[in-house]
Amino acid sequence: MERIGIGIDKLDDALGGFPVGRSMLITGDAGCGKTIFGLRFAKTSCDEGYATAYITAEEDSYDLHVQANTFGWNTQELEEQGLLTFIELTGIRARITEAEINMDMDPMKGNFTKILHDIPPETEVVIIDSLGGYTAKLTPYDFRNQFDLLVYELKQRGITSVLILDSATSNEFNELALFSVYGAIKLVRRENPYTGRRERVMDIIKMRSTKTPTQFLTYDIGENGIEIQNGEEYLDDDKSGENLDI
Ligand SMILES: Nc1ncnc2c1ncn2[C@@H]1O[C@H](COP(=O)(O)OP(=O)(O)O)[C@@H](O)[C@H]1O
Ligand SMILES: [Mg+2]
Repeated sequence: MERIGIGIDKLDDALGGFPVGRSMLITGDAGCGKTIFGLRFAKTSCDEGYATAYITAEEDSYDLHVQANTFGWNTQELEEQGLLTFIELTGIRARITEAEINMDMDPMKGNFTKILHDIPPETEVVIIDSLGGYTAKLTPYDFRNQFDLLVYELKQRGITSVLILDSATSNEFNELALFSVYGAIKLVRRENPYTGRRERVMDIIKMRSTKTPTQFLTYDIGENGIEIQNGEEYLDDDKSGENLDI
């Protein structure tokens, strides 16, 4: 299976990149780097020539450009080249809600499958940041149905996706999102049990057809974005990142 680089050195070594046409889930608490992760992947997929859409529900595209620029990623240029498209959902959501009120539907009930209509037809890679604001009043059953439909439709369209979800929402729905995705990474801030110091760690929860590291990968957010700190010895063994699919 063809893979797209993530753009984070040791993570690419450990996973071999993200598989084309499949969905990856990124979860984590506020401030742990989900958006930076998404921007990094968007930049890499553009550099590899994939038409990429970044769907943002929490920040406007101006702030995302500013954040990307602090790491030296020129997202404006990628936009001008037609490789990257930012889609701001807040405006779209407001319009849909108005339409729903007119149609007498429950305007408060979340429906993130509608995001599928906002993905431009020529898109090859999409980052959805995040689904968290679209789950109001959903039961775990509704959530699972919507999430599975989203993943299924993206796969049908051959789109490679990074789906971002905050931990609180993921927990609220009993981590059901983990089942249908091809792979999942959790970003966590924790206290190191030995040093007592706070650190950021990445947990590769699953990645089908790939030998993944079982160790947490410690990372930092520095001038180049997310950087894995572990030495090679933590990356399981020399088979890490081996692509086991045909
Ligand atoms: N230029 C930078 N250098 C170092 N750390 C940064 C920089 N920009 C942002 N950060 C860190 O990244 C965090 C925000 O990451 P973000 O991806 O927006 O988190 P999330 O989307 O998970 O809420 C900030 O709280 C800060 O700790
Ligand atoms: Mg964010």
